[in-house]
Amino acid sequence: MANNMRYFIGNWKMFGVPKSINILNKINTFVKLDKNHNKRYKVIITPPYTLLESYSNIFKNKRISIGAQNCYHKDNFGSNTGAISPYMVKNLGAKYIIIGHSDNRAEGDNDIILKDKVIFALKNKLKIIFCIGENKRQKLNKLTFTTLRKQLTKVLERKFEENNIIVAYEPIWSIGTGKIPQQSELQKTTKFIKKILKNIFKTKKSPKVLYGGSVDSSSIKQFTELNDIDGFLIGGASKSSKNFIDIIKNYYR
Ligand code: 13P
Repeated sequence: MANNMRYFIGNWKMFGVPKSINILNKINTFVKLDKNHNKRYKVIITPPYTLLESYSNIFKNKRISIGAQNCYHKDNFGSNTGAISPYMVKNLGAKYIIIGHSDNRAEGDNDIILKDKVIFALKNKLKIIFCIGENKRQKLNKLTFTTLRKQLTKVLERKFEENNIIVAYEPIWSIGTGKIPQQSELQKTTKFIKKILKNIFKTKKSPKVLYGGSVDSSSIKQFTELNDIDGFLIGGASKSSKNFIDIIKNYYR
C-alpha cells in the first residue's frame, strides 16, 4: 500500500438495521466511480455485530471493507452471555476490528483486557484499529503525552505484527463535540504517537496513525495539510452517505 494511502473509516456505533445497507451502497458506488480511489484511499465501515455477516457477504469483492467495533477478551467459544469472540467475528467475514474505543474503555476495558483482545484479534488475522486518546481533564493538566504513552506501551508489544495494527488517536473531548485539536497540536501529537510506535515495534517503517473526533465534511478541510495523519475514524458523519462522501471529496479538493 502506498505511503500516502489514506483510511476513511466509518464507525457506526449503535446505529444500523438491515435496510441501512442503502447508505453503504451509495458510498460503494461513489468509490467505484472515483478513478483515483485505488491509489489514494481505503474505505472501511464498522456496523454493529448484528449486520457483520450480511454486510461482509454483500461487500466481499466490492470497494468497502467491513469491520467489527469490538470483541470479547476471550477467544473461541465460552460461557459468557452476550459476548462475541474474535473467532466469531472473523467467521462472520469481518476483516477489521476496533479495539480500545473510549466508549468501551469507559465501560471497563482496561489495559489487561485490551491486550487480550489485541492478541486474540491478531490470532484470528483481523486487522486492528487501536483507539487511544486523552480526556479533557488530562488535556488541561498537560497529561496528553503521558496518557497516550501509557495507553500504547501497556497494550502493544514488539512481538505483535505491526502491519496489522493501525492506531486511531481520538481525544475524548473531541468526540461528538465539534471541537478539534489545533493543527500544530495535532501535528505534534501524531508525531509523538509514531515515535512511540516505532520504539515499541523497533521498526523504521512509519506506523499508520489516524485521527478521530468531530470529523465531518467541513472540519475535514483542516486536515488536508497534515501529512502525518494517515486517515480518519468518523462517527456521526458516517451514518449518512452524503456526509461520508463529502468528507472524501473535500479532503481531495
Ligand atoms: P464523532 O465523529 O461523532 O465525533 O465520533 C468519533 C468516534 O468516536 C469514532 O470512533
